[in-house]
Amino acid sequence: QLLAVIKEYEGLLTVSGEKLRQIVDHFVGELNKGLSKAGGNIPMIPGWVMEFPTGKEKGDYLAIDLGGTNLRVVLVKLGGDRTFDSTQSKYAIPAEIRTGTRDQLFDFIGDCLKKFVDEFFPDGVEGELPLGFTFSYPASQDKINQGVLQQWTKGFDIDDVEGHDVVPILQASIEKYNVPIQVVALINDTTGTLVSSMYTDPEAKLGLIFGTGVNGAYYDVTGDIPKLEGKLASDIPADSVMAINCEYGSFDNEHLVLPRTKYDIQIDKESPRPGKQSFEKMISGYYLGEVLRLILLELAEEKKLIFVNQDLSKLKKAYVWDASIPARIEEDPFENLSDTQDLIYGSVGIQTTSPERKVIRRLCELIGDRSARLSMCGIGAICKKRGYKTAHCAADGSVYNKYPDFKVRAARALREIFQWSDEVKEDPIIIVPAEDGSGVGAAVIAALTEQRLKKGL
Ligand code: BG6
Ligand code: GLC
Repeated sequence: QLLAVIKEYEGLLTVSGEKLRQIVDHFVGELNKGLSKAGGNIPMIPGWVMEFPTGKEKGDYLAIDLGGTNLRVVLVKLGGDRTFDSTQSKYAIPAEIRTGTRDQLFDFIGDCLKKFVDEFFPDGVEGELPLGFTFSYPASQDKINQGVLQQWTKGFDIDDVEGHDVVPILQASIEKYNVPIQVVALINDTTGTLVSSMYTDPEAKLGLIFGTGVNGAYYDVTGDIPKLEGKLASDIPADSVMAINCEYGSFDNEHLVLPRTKYDIQIDKESPRPGKQSFEKMISGYYLGEVLRLILLELAEEKKLIFVNQDLSKLKKAYVWDASIPARIEEDPFENLSDTQDLIYGSVGIQTTSPERKVIRRLCELIGDRSARLSMCGIGAICKKRGYKTAHCAADGSVYNKYPDFKVRAARALREIFQWSDEVKEDPIIIVPAEDGSGVGAAVIAALTEQRLKKGL
């Protein structure tokens, strides 16, 4: 009976190559809609990075990174010859801050910055340190040192920030903590990833995050971005470039093409922002453990096929598992899946039988495979839209870096999307590990901004 059930979940969670291609085609249209004056579901936010890095950018910059698993503070020394040095401190974001108050969040950041500067500049600072703020949420920008939060994503839910420019809020907190820092640029983690990777790799064309959230950035030509009309200085030529933070986690909020399951629908319904980030909610790290939990709960409670006579109360707690649980189950090296036994017992107090563990492992494979395959639709769509025949797609984030087989599954899906013929020996579009986007990217963008401002542009 368990075997029959697995077939059912295979049917629900497997995405064929044909479906991927259909999604990509729809995705291209949605990217274009997002750039139009009327706008669309995908925000396609101009990032006000209006030049390609040359690799010659130089200087010392601070960067902070808010939006992934940790708050990071990074001191970057750009060498000016495609090299850099960096020193960083990571501060775990206390869980209650995700849904706490605006002051709690920005006091936490101010305090971390103070600690960092005190530690690494014990003799004080001459003047002010320029800081790039990597703020990895959809934030609208009319200039580089601005970011009006459109809506929180990835489970964050803090009042009084949506609709506000977070740059002055951060600057006020920096002043409150008396740290000699000037916020010069606000960037998205994908834009940072794109720019930092181009600083070291001239073949890089896309910056991608596969982590707590999913998103991508690329450069477009200003003449192809209708919604910029009236926002650019009149002397900017139509063939100038502009980095675009797609925010494509919101792809298909109308539910026209993605193969959503009832688990995806439930996750959305019970999230702080129902109806938003439909694509992200199916594939990003924040939700992978939750999909597994919902399926296991269904198997145990409704179908009564697993965990018979066990106390399910801990399993009923939403988000009790993050993506590391399915990741580690997939990695379990033991024939009898004893790591899986320990993980499940340790986290939700449930004893598992060997057949149950096999089912759980298979479900994790299906969930991981679905995430990797659907994740590739963003790459497919941007490359098709821009006509890229070859590209290095620079990627970062915990799912890309840590989820077993993500890279292999992703590469396979890209081959199915592009249907490269057998004569093509090496995949022309590949994913490469990114350079530190939120540190180096923020630094390079701060340097580019300073140069542009000096030129009076
Ligand atoms: C990090 C980048 O490595 O990955 C961050 O430096 C990014 O800028 C993060 O936000 C995303 O991954 P995760 O898994 O922490 O959301
Ligand atoms: C979410 C955020 C986006 C970010 C992505 C990856 O989708 O809205 O800004 O780039 O997560 O961190």
